[in-house]
Amino acid sequence: MALWGGRFSAETRDEVAEYTESISYDRRLYRWDVRGSQAHVRMLARQGIIPAATAEAIAAELESIAGRIERGDFKFKTELEDIHMHIESALIEKLGAEGARVHSARSRNDQVALDIRLYLRDEVDQLSSGIREFQLALVKAAAAEPEAILPGFTHLQHAQAVLFAHHLLAYVEMLDRDAERLADCRRRINVMPLGSGALAGSTLPIDRESVAAELGFDRVTRNSMDAVADRDFAIELVSALAIFTMHVSRLSEDLILWCSQEFDFVELDDAFCTGSSLMPQKKNPDVCEISRGKTARVYGDLMALLTMCKGLPLTYNRDLQEDKEQIFDALDTAKRILRVYPPMIATMKIKKERMRAAASDPALMATDLAEKLVELGVPFRSAHHRVGSLVKYCREHGKRLDQVTLEEMQLSIPEATAEFLTMFQPEASVAKRELTGGTGYRAVRSQLAFWQQRLERADER
Ligand code: ARG
Repeated sequence: MALWGGRFSAETRDEVAEYTESISYDRRLYRWDVRGSQAHVRMLARQGIIPAATAEAIAAELESIAGRIERGDFKFKTELEDIHMHIESALIEKLGAEGARVHSARSRNDQVALDIRLYLRDEVDQLSSGIREFQLALVKAAAAEPEAILPGFTHLQHAQAVLFAHHLLAYVEMLDRDAERLADCRRRINVMPLGSGALAGSTLPIDRESVAAELGFDRVTRNSMDAVADRDFAIELVSALAIFTMHVSRLSEDLILWCSQEFDFVELDDAFCTGSSLMPQKKNPDVCEISRGKTARVYGDLMALLTMCKGLPLTYNRDLQEDKEQIFDALDTAKRILRVYPPMIATMKIKKERMRAAASDPALMATDLAEKLVELGVPFRSAHHRVGSLVKYCREHGKRLDQVTLEEMQLSIPEATAEFLTMFQPEASVAKRELTGGTGYRAVRSQLAFWQQRLERADER
C-alpha cells in the first residue's frame, strides 16, 4: 500500500509502478536520506513539534534501517517507488504511529533535494582528492625524467622541441582547474533546502538553521520554490566532470599516439593494455581508448540534464527524478577514471632516445633562427621569410637544415654567421626558453617544485 492511500480508490497498476519507480537506482542515496531524516526529527523535537522520545526512537530505528540496507537485509519493493518511501514505511512498520511523525513539515521534494546535495558534497570531496592523486602521478612522472626532450606538436605536425616534463605539466594545470571548478561548485551544493516543503515551506515552527548546522551546510536556501525546482548545482557538477573527462580524453589521445609504432615514445604497462584475439603481436592502449569513449558518455549525461530542466514550469515536476541516473553515471565514470590513471601513469615507461631522435629534426629549430635574426635587428616578418626560404632551399636540395654550409645559408639569410650553424641541437633550443611558462630546464624545474610543494601540502590536509 502506498503512503498516500487516503484519496485513492485504486492501486497503481503494476506497469505504472514499474514505469515510475526510482528505487532501482536511488537506493544508493539511503545513507544520506537517513542522515537528513535524523537531523530533521531531532529538530522537530527541539521545536516541540514531536515528542523527544519519538525523535530518539526514530533516529535509532533509522540507524538500524541503514544497517539492514548495508548488509543486504532489506526488502525493496517497486510499489514503494523511491528510497524516501521505503525508509519511511520501514519506520512505520517498526514504530507504528510514532514512526509516522517523521515526515512532519517535510515533502519528498525538499527531502530529495537535501539527499542529492548531501550525496554530491561527499562525492565532490572524493573526486577532489582523486584529482590531486592524478596530478601527483603526473608530477612524479615528469620529475623522474626532467631532461627528456620530445617534439611538441601543433596541427599534429612537429613544431618545436619541448621537455617531456613540460608536456605532462600542461595536464597538471588542466586538472588543477578541474579541481578548482569542483571546489567552486561545492559552495553552491552546500546549501540546505529542507524546510522548503513541497514548494511553499511549512506552517510548523521549524528551525532550518539548526538542521543546516548539524548537517554541515554553509547556509539555508533563501527561496522554497527555487530550492525544490532547480538542479543547477548538479548540472554544474556534471559540466565540470564533462570538462575533466575532456582533459582526460586529450591526455589519452596523446598516450595512444605515443604508444603507436609511428611515435614509439612510451610504453604502457601490460596491466593497462589488452591484446588482440586474432593478431598475436598486438598490445592495445584500451584504457585510453575507453576513456575517450567514456567522455562522450559524460557529455550525454550533461546534455540529458540540461534538456530535462529546460521546459519545466516551477516548481517540482516528476521529470526531475530522471536526474539521478545521469548524475550517478557521470560521477561513477569520473571515479573509475581516477582509479586507473594514477597507476597507469606511474608504471608508464618512457623511451627517451626515441623522443630525442624525433626532436632532433633541425627543422624544429627554424623558429630559433628567426628569433636570432630578430636579436640582430631584423624585423620578425623578414626574418620569418628568410628562414622560410632556407627551408625551401633545403627541401629542393634534399638536405636537412643542419647540412648546409654557411655560404648556402647566406643565400637565404645574409646575416647568418658561423653561430647559426650550431643552433640545431634540441637541448640548446630548450635551454633558451627560460621565461616564465616556458619549456627551459630551469623554468620547468621550478614548475615541478611548485607542484610538488602544492600537492604535498594538499596531501596533508
Ligand atoms: N523520487 C522522487 C525524485 O527523485 C522524489 C520526489 C517525489 N516527489 C513527488 N512529488 N512525487 O524526484
